[in-house]
Amino acid sequence: MVRHAGWVAMVVAGVLFAADGFAQTQSRCADCHFANPGSVSASHLSEWDLSGHGRKNVGCETCHGGDPRSFEPFVAHKDILARTNPASPVHPTNLPKTCGTCHTGPLVAFQRSKHYELLRAGNKNGPTCTTCHGEAAGTRLSPKALEGQCATCHGAGKIAPHPEFPARARLADEGLREARALLKDARNAIARVKDAARRASLEQAAQQAEVPLIEATQAGHAFVYDQLDERLNTARARLAALFERLANPDAR
Ligand code: HEC
Ligand code: HEC
Ligand code: HEC
Ligand code: HEC
Ligand code: HEC
Repeated sequence: MVRHAGWVAMVVAGVLFAADGFAQTQSRCADCHFANPGSVSASHLSEWDLSGHGRKNVGCETCHGGDPRSFEPFVAHKDILARTNPASPVHPTNLPKTCGTCHTGPLVAFQRSKHYELLRAGNKNGPTCTTCHGEAAGTRLSPKALEGQCATCHGAGKIAPHPEFPARARLADEGLREARALLKDARNAIARVKDAARRASLEQAAQQAEVPLIEATQAGHAFVYDQLDERLNTARARLAALFERLANPDAR
């Protein structure tokens, strides 16, 4: 009963929103769920709220389905399947596709992996997107946490023992982070270059250093670490050349 009273209040609030002409296209799922603690675990809500997803209005419905315009629970929840239903968009085997509607690059790369084949075969003994990114948070694991995640399956004595995989993933991730930080430093320095032509030419070189970095991330999502290392080394070489040009103002 108490919960129903809450819903009525939320429906009224919804009408006010609509009369304002405000938030009509925004998802209402979260508003009601925040007003009904216990309808979902508190950690899931706060994870979502604090994430890039929450900030950029990637609403609950983008992963769960349902009708985000409605404050009427039966309408809002129409077509939402239990998460254990193999057809649910948040079932582990369907997550690559669900997340991949927005994150095409990671999806395409992940589809090349053995892990994806396992999921496709209905075998949940492989990682899916949320294994490394959290359910709603879009978290980026630290290199050490990533290593630990791989080790839950690839550590000695686990379901697919390959103790070399976790360490390799950590090293690769550390390398990627270092290269990304260097690229950021380079771009900050480029922004301070006064000569417009030189600035444009340096920015072009920065873009050329970024391409292999993006490809390295893709190789990571495909779990092909030889390719990742090769792309990372190309990026490093281009970054080194870029810093050399930045340090030498006479060169264009
Ligand atoms: C008016 C309030 C309200 C709105 C709007 C609402 N929900 Fe819910 N939702 C609830 C409550 C309360 C529950 C707890 C279960 C129950 O009693 O129905 C729930 C349950 C759920 C569940 C768990 C279902 C299960 O089988 O375990 C999911 C997932 C969910 N909602 C997602 C959404 C999404 C996505 C939207 C928007 C499209 C939405 N909700 C809109 C109140 C709401
Ligand atoms: C980026 C995708 C994504 C977004 C956005 C998202 N969820 Fe989820 N949600 C998931 C995944 C994945 C699970 C776990 C499914 C499983 O158990 O395998 C889940 C689980 C749940 C559950 C059941 C478990 C629990 O923690 O209670 C509910 C209820 C739920 N979500 C509601 C919501 C609501 C409400 C919102 C918006 C505030 C939301 N979700 C936003 C992906 C998402
Ligand atoms: C085994 C762990 C793992 C799995 C599984 C995984 N990722 Fe990632 N993902 C990472 C790591 C590590 C990075 C950071 C790489 C970097 O810094 O370049 C990342 C980066 C990202 C990024 C940000 C960079 C970009 O390319 O846009 C997105 C978005 C992303 N992943 C989405 C996904 C999606 C969608 C899936 C499922 C299809 C997925 N990931 C599966 C580990 C994983
Ligand atoms: C409706 C589109 C949409 C869906 C579906 C979606 N995301 Fe996102 N994702 C976004 C947006 C928008 C951002 C925020 C990007 C920003 O902050 O610039 C984001 C951010 C991320 C990031 C952080 C990227 C970074 O550069 O640090 C990761 C990781 C991520 N999402 C993973 C996932 C995973 C895993 C799923 C599925 C469970 C998912 N996303 C579902 C749109 C989506
Ligand atoms: C939930 C369990 C699980 C997690 C977590 C996991 N894997 Fe796997 N992985 C598997 C299984 C199962 C296989 C297939 C069996 C095998 O190759 O021994 C596999 C296969 C692989 C392969 C072989 C791919 C091929 O094409 O032959 C690589 C490489 C790999 N994993 C790397 C990683 C890395 C790196 C991580 C962490 C970022 C990771 N895995 C996380 C379960 C997992």
